Amino acid sequence: MDILNEIKCITHEAKLVQINNQEDLNAYRLTYLSKKGKLAELFEIFKNLEGIEKRLVGKPLNEAKSVIEGIFYEEQSKLKELPAKNFSFDHTKPLANAHHGHVHPISQIQKEIISVFEMIGFNVSQGPEIEDDWHNFSSLNFPQEHPARDMQDTFFVEKDPDWALRTHTSSVQVRVMDVRKPPIRTLAPGRVFRNEAVSSRAHCIFHQIEGLYIDKGVSFADMKQTLLYFAKEFFGESTKIRLRPSYFPFTEPSAEMDVYWGLNSETDYRITKGTGWLEVMGCGMVDPEVLRSSGINPDVYSGFAFGMGIERIAMNRFQITDLRHFFENDIRFLSQFS
Ligand code: PHE
Repeated sequence: MDILNEIKCITHEAKLVQINNQEDLNAYRLTYLSKKGKLAELFEIFKNLEGIEKRLVGKPLNEAKSVIEGIFYEEQSKLKELPAKNFSFDHTKPLANAHHGHVHPISQIQKEIISVFEMIGFNVSQGPEIEDDWHNFSSLNFPQEHPARDMQDTFFVEKDPDWALRTHTSSVQVRVMDVRKPPIRTLAPGRVFRNEAVSSRAHCIFHQIEGLYIDKGVSFADMKQTLLYFAKEFFGESTKIRLRPSYFPFTEPSAEMDVYWGLNSETDYRITKGTGWLEVMGCGMVDPEVLRSSGINPDVYSGFAFGMGIERIAMNRFQITDLRHFFENDIRFLSQFS
């Protein structure tokens, strides 16, 4: 039967047509699918068939129609996508929903503190996180077996000779004084480690930033003025500070600096323990013994040092009541600080 052969041929031919653009697609439609197209011609013949012939031809003809139409729709949708592909790709175009990373809140505060002190000539120094006994304790006037060593519960890495995770950034003071001559004005930010139970207010890993200022004729008044300058820059122009007597083996006299926070935000008595004063840092005049052990003549030079915990300050700045959030890297928490 000729018509069955014809159906096969047309289908085969339609499958081989190359469609590369809109013109090709139109030509395809006209050739096969239009009212005067090849399919219509076949349907015209089909209409006039009768009996068994009609039944034999109906199915393959309808199948051919759906194959030829299928090719048309597929090629049509491919052509619709094409204009975008033809555009040259703009590599600088921002992605629609790209998630940008950002600086961790602890690093943000650290940077901010550094920039306040950089304005008055401080630079940044670094030291190792694993320290020997000399740099973490002995050179800072913590004698062996001295109870002051218990102020900071230490993670030891090796015993005798002792290697430990540094318990404070004061170790960097010593490293700086070992290699640099005064005048020294430096900051040492970094991670420190203490064997403490983890809670909402304490962690075994935290960050400190240390300051050291050594020159001729540096006095306690210079220290107070420097710290007041910092407090005003960081906490606001109207900030008041106070210095309370304290004890550190490597400074004499030693003090604790508080910033007046007020009682307005003191709903649970956690921030200032009901006093209105927020404890911000330890500080003091560098003990002459410490200068001497680093080869700096305490009869010529004097200086001050200070050290503050960055988490404590970040908690107050961002009103965070649980310090553990800073270490969990939960994206729901971190993305609030972008
Ligand atoms: N290192 C002290 C601490 O960790 C802080 C401090 C630094 C005190 C410098 C005085 C001078 O608590």
